[in-house]
Amino acid sequence: MTILKVKNVSKTYQSGSKKLTVLDEINFDIQSGESIAIVGPSGSGKTTLLGLCAGLDSATTGSVVLNGNAFEKLNEDQRAAVRNQYVGFIFQNFQLLPTLTALENVMVPLELKKRKDAKEKATILLEKVGLGDRLTHYPTQLSGGEQQRVSIARAFANEPKILFADEPTGNLDTETGDMIEDLIFDMNKDQGTTLILVTHDPELAKRTNRIINIKGGKIQEASYG
Ligand SMILES: Nc1ncnc2c1ncn2[C@@H]1O[C@H](COP(=O)(O)OP(=O)(O)O)[C@@H](O)[C@H]1O
Ligand SMILES: [Mg+2]
Repeated sequence: MTILKVKNVSKTYQSGSKKLTVLDEINFDIQSGESIAIVGPSGSGKTTLLGLCAGLDSATTGSVVLNGNAFEKLNEDQRAAVRNQYVGFIFQNFQLLPTLTALENVMVPLELKKRKDAKEKATILLEKVGLGDRLTHYPTQLSGGEQQRVSIARAFANEPKILFADEPTGNLDTETGDMIEDLIFDMNKDQGTTLILVTHDPELAKRTNRIINIKGGKIQEASYG
């Protein structure tokens, strides 16, 4: 079953009088349960593409269909509902809410789903990423790597059908990074979570089923690993 369909997607920004084409006619399909790595140089449009696929942002032209929902036909509230139902997103820059503690940040998606066990579940997830002793810390009181792990626990909290991860181990030491990688791939294996990750790490990319190579906003080649 196709869980994500990206068809003729372009994204342009107007900068002054110039039009900047960040993504140029991108096409690919992803099947449910697959794991995919998106690789490419800095500035090639990887983060932009991930945001469009997750319905966080709108394409300028083209179509993105996630689990049967065509984002271009939905308004912002409807897109948020689709994200809340199906999507986990690990942001490159974490995007934690600064006024909430680590625990409260992870509880947000659980409370949106009105889960009564939000606190217990969020605690378990933070323990899993090695932050059991940082529950009441605010984001400014956490290191970059710790904030990244809170962001990861929050993405897991949704029990997403599809997990997007933007350089999920970019701020972690090797040992912690390996632990997080294993958690992500376990989710793919045990729960069938579709995994789409952006990475600079060739070893991490090789662990996925398929690598999409993007350069200057275009797909270069899709190789099967
Ligand atoms: N909101 C924006 N307005 C204008 N240009 C943007 C915006 N967001 C991203 N860009 C540009 O789009 C290009 C791709 O960015 P990005 O998707 O973050 O690349 P990557 O994640 O591959 O490093 C960059 O050149 C960046 O400057
Ligand atoms: Mg990026």
